[in-house]
This record gives sequence, structure tokens and C-alpha cells, in this order.
Amino acid sequence: MRSGSIRTPSYVYDLDAVAAGARELREAFGNEPHLVAYAVKANTAGPIVRTLAAQGCGADVVSGAELSVALACGVPAQSIVYNGVAKRDDEIDKALGAGILSIQIESVEEIVRVAARARALGRKERARISLRINPALDFEALETHANIATGHDAAKFGIAQDDLPRAIDIIKASPEVELVGLGHHIGSQIPSVPAYRTAARTLFSLGVAVRAGGIRTLRFLDTGGGFGIDYGAGAVPKPGDYVRAALEERKAAEVDDLMLMVEPGRSMVAAHGVLISRVVQTKVSTVRGTARRWLMIDAGMNDLIRPALYQARHRVVPLDTNGASADFTATLWRVVGPVCESSDDFGVHALPDAPPEHVALLDAGAYGYVMSNQYNGRALPDEVFLRGGQIVSISRGKSPDDWVQERVAIQG
Ligand code: LLP
Repeated sequence: MRSGSIRTPSYVYDLDAVAAGARELREAFGNEPHLVAYAVKANTAGPIVRTLAAQGCGADVVSGAELSVALACGVPAQSIVYNGVAKRDDEIDKALGAGILSIQIESVEEIVRVAARARALGRKERARISLRINPALDFEALETHANIATGHDAAKFGIAQDDLPRAIDIIKASPEVELVGLGHHIGSQIPSVPAYRTAARTLFSLGVAVRAGGIRTLRFLDTGGGFGIDYGAGAVPKPGDYVRAALEERKAAEVDDLMLMVEPGRSMVAAHGVLISRVVQTKVSTVRGTARRWLMIDAGMNDLIRPALYQARHRVVPLDTNGASADFTATLWRVVGPVCESSDDFGVHALPDAPPEHVALLDAGAYGYVMSNQYNGRALPDEVFLRGGQIVSISRGKSPDDWVQERVAIQG
């Protein structure tokens, strides 16, 4: 890595590793027809989405804008599903116009809206919809942070199972739509396969019931994303392990004529991106006779908000000036950013006694740049893309000067 061309803070992504991960996941399906609909929200950068599209992945999008990114990056419309609890009319129209695989419906009310939009557009073809079911799982069983658990019944996501018969009745009475799939997404960073498997079993049994109720148009069952990754706390299953469990359950439920779809985001990109940051200064304060060591870096919660929002831990490792990991005698440093919030804190890490010039925050390829913001008049980070160990492109983030100009230019 030629650190000279890299400013800090910068996200750096390895596109070869992203491609290899996608290949490995797709291999887990064996010869079964399937769709890996990459959850674009995790990382929307063109090189990432194009790399995954080139590996045959589809996309799960949650806005009209994400739909545009997926299409422009070469994801075939027929491999795109659109989730979201509050899609606007113009977004529904865009999805219908693009001819995507399916609009994933999250409420009974939304079925009526999509049917109305299809009617208003005068479409001849039926609008393809799928129902996202809320599996009402025991919250504790999801084993993840409250802010990213979605498959419990207090969450705003998905159609409650008790409402499924009503949803089916409305679909049957709406000639503008056809039901092509059932799906769910139980949450993110699910660390073990059993919760995923149990939820899949329930989904597949609903598939059986829906067919028994006279629906003949189902094409796919979508067990969602949420595959956990190892942020350093210990091993987690491989993405393929979740897939293999879902395939087994699908066979047991005798719905293996329906295509299995998954919607992973994090597991496809997190480990293949790091956030590089420069050490701005150290601070050693003496509190009741004990030294407290702070390493103040130029990346903050505005660049990587996950620790502040979910108490997430990203490992922090030292980089020497060549960008390689260095040998060192460890000291515990609390690594913090420059933002004026106590939660701008990346936790305590073992780092060299003599602090390095640069550090890397690991596993930052998912939900990193996409959640960044300019709070405190900060820059948006750069993004650097590597292929074959070489930089293939750099996207310069907004500078603090851009921010100043934008704020001051507002009239009034
Ligand atoms: N499908 C749906 C409908 C989703 O809502 C999500 C994520 C995914 C798929 C992808 O889930 P994944 O495989 O990435 O776990 N910002 C949070 C994560 C929010 C996830 C939102 N939905 C974080 O940084 O942990």
C-alpha cells in the first residue's frame, strides 16, 4: 500500500477479497437455483456493487436511490428485491418501471398501495410482490444488539403472522399484483446458525400453508441476511453454514422447488474493508494516582458510528509507515476520535507503548462509510479501492471546506 496517496481518515477495501467471499457463498448452494441478493445498504460504493454483480449476485435495496445504484452497477433488474416499511409512491413506481424481481411488502396496507400504483401506471403485467413476514421470534434468541434485531414482534418490520390470511385475501382480490415470494430478515449480526435455522423452518411452513391456500405463483423463499462476522471476539459460522442449514430445512419442508434467496450485507463486505486513521496526539492523565492513556485519532464517530450506536467493537491495530502491521510492546490505550461526544470512543486496545503514526480499524467494510456524516464540521472520509494489491480508484470524500461553503451558502 502506498500510504503517500492515502489521506486519513480513509476507508480501504480489497475488491479481490469481496469477490472471493461471494464465490464461496455461492458455492454453498451447490447446484440449487438461488439468489444472493447483496444488501446494498452495507456498502453502496460502485466498485463494490459492480464486483458483486460480476460474481452473479443480485441486490436487496431499500430506497429508490439504492435501486438506481444497483441497476447502474449492472445488477439485473430480475435479481433485485426492494425492502422497506415506508416506500414512497415515486419509489414504488420506479421499482415497477424497472421490472425488478419483487417488491417486498412490509404491511397489509402496502399491498393496497402497490396495487393502486400498478393500476395508475396502467401496467399490463402483474406487479410482482413478496411478503416480508415478521417471524415474532423471542428477542433473546436472536443474540444480537437490540438496535439491529428485527425479527421480534415489537419491530416495525414485516407482516405479523396473524395478518397473513388477510394479506393473502387482499392479494387474491387484487388483479394488479401476484405473490411471487415469502421472506423474512430476523436481524443483523446473528452469531449462530440455530436461530437462523429455526426461523427458516417457520418461513418454509408458511410457504406450505400459503400454497395450500391456493396461491400458485410462488417462486422463491427468502431467509434474509444477518450472517454474523467475527469482529475479534471469537469464531462465528461461515456464511455458507447459514445457507446449508436453510437448504436442509427447505428440503425437509418439501418446498425445494422454490428458489432459496438470501440477503446478506455485512458478511459480504465487513472484513474486506478497514478504516485508516492518523494518530493526532496522545494524552496521559493521572487519575487518583493511575495513568489513563488516550490515543486521539483523526477518525471519529462521524466516520464510523457503529461503536457509538451499537457498542460495537472494531479492533484497532497499529500500522507502520509502510502500512504493515508492526511488532510492539503493548500498552492499553483508549482510542477516541475528535468529535465532541463522549460516545466518540473506539474502546481500549493494546497498542505500542510508543504510539504509531497510523492505526487501522478492522472490519469496517460494512455500515462504515455509508453511515458517515459531517457532524462537527468534519470531512467525509475518502474511499480507496484495491485490486491485485494495487489502488484502482480513490473516491475523495467531502472536505471541511466543502462543508463550510455549503453551510454558508444557505440564503436567509
Ligand atoms: N435484508 C434486510 C431487509 C435488512 O434490513 C438488512 C439489514 C439486511 C438484509 C442485511 O443484513 P446483514 O446481512 O448486513 O446483517 N447498521 C447496522 C446494521 C443494520 C442492518 C439493517 N438491515 C450495523 O452497523 O450493525
